Amino acid sequence: MTSVRVAVGPRQSRRFVQAVTDGGGEVVAVGEEPEALVWLDPRDVDGLAAALRAAPGIRWVQLPFAGVENVVSREMFDGSRVWTCAKGAYAEPVAEHALALALAGLRMLPRRIEARSWGEAAGTSLFDRPVTILGGGGITRALIALLEPFRAEVTVVRRTADPVPGARRTLPTAELAAALPGAAVVFLALALSPATTGIIGREELALMEPGAWLVNVARGRHVQTDALVEALASGGIAGAALDVTDPEPLPDGHPLWGMENCIVTPHTADTLEMTQPLLAARVRENVARFVAGRDLVGVVDPLAGY
Ligand code: GLV
Repeated sequence: MTSVRVAVGPRQSRRFVQAVTDGGGEVVAVGEEPEALVWLDPRDVDGLAAALRAAPGIRWVQLPFAGVENVVSREMFDGSRVWTCAKGAYAEPVAEHALALALAGLRMLPRRIEARSWGEAAGTSLFDRPVTILGGGGITRALIALLEPFRAEVTVVRRTADPVPGARRTLPTAELAAALPGAAVVFLALALSPATTGIIGREELALMEPGAWLVNVARGRHVQTDALVEALASGGIAGAALDVTDPEPLPDGHPLWGMENCIVTPHTADTLEMTQPLLAARVRENVARFVAGRDLVGVVDPLAGY
């Protein structure tokens, strides 16, 4: 089996050089005619574009994030090479965070953490309750597994109506309105695309139960922030737990910071400490597959945008 020439950028981190080598690749610089590129900085899209211009022989690019909207919006998927992202790789820690946020919300923990006196009994249980998850990818599958002990009745809403294992029902996005009433928690775990930007707005929030929590571990721009602030202020929904916001970072003084029914974590469902070993395992696996001419894991569908 011949080795393949793989560049690692924008910097050659030791962990990823090792992962490429372990997968059977040879690490080379961008100027040394690589056939593949492992790109490690999700924010440096200009650097990625420059690397691709400098090395037109790159046939495969591995991206570091699960969500690839920054790359899609730059129209970089021109069909000349295969792109893979980290989709699925971080699903477990992100699903864990989503569950933690949901339980904290349903049990009214933000209010109790602030409390300095005994107060009223409050909180609801997740056991045997309906929940709705938007998105049919890796996070949803990991979350369904975590929800199983709660016997939660899961409805999944996704682009296609292909059933997701473990879900009571799977609906296409066009039927989102049918999935919101009755849910104790609405989880957002879907990719950001033009079709899903602002998917939760005033109308959708109005369909949710007054006792329901919205949990977003996907992208801030899935939710129309002004509509959410209104729903939280008026008691239209019980609360929102957001690992992602629009704008992001959420600026100091933003109305969401002052709301006792809103939990904000700073896009830390999957911290660098959690993701780096998982991404290294994905890189090792994909380099080994590329060397062997096998299908890669996490291939991006340019039309779907994830
Ligand atoms: C994180 O937000 C990711 O897309 O992997």
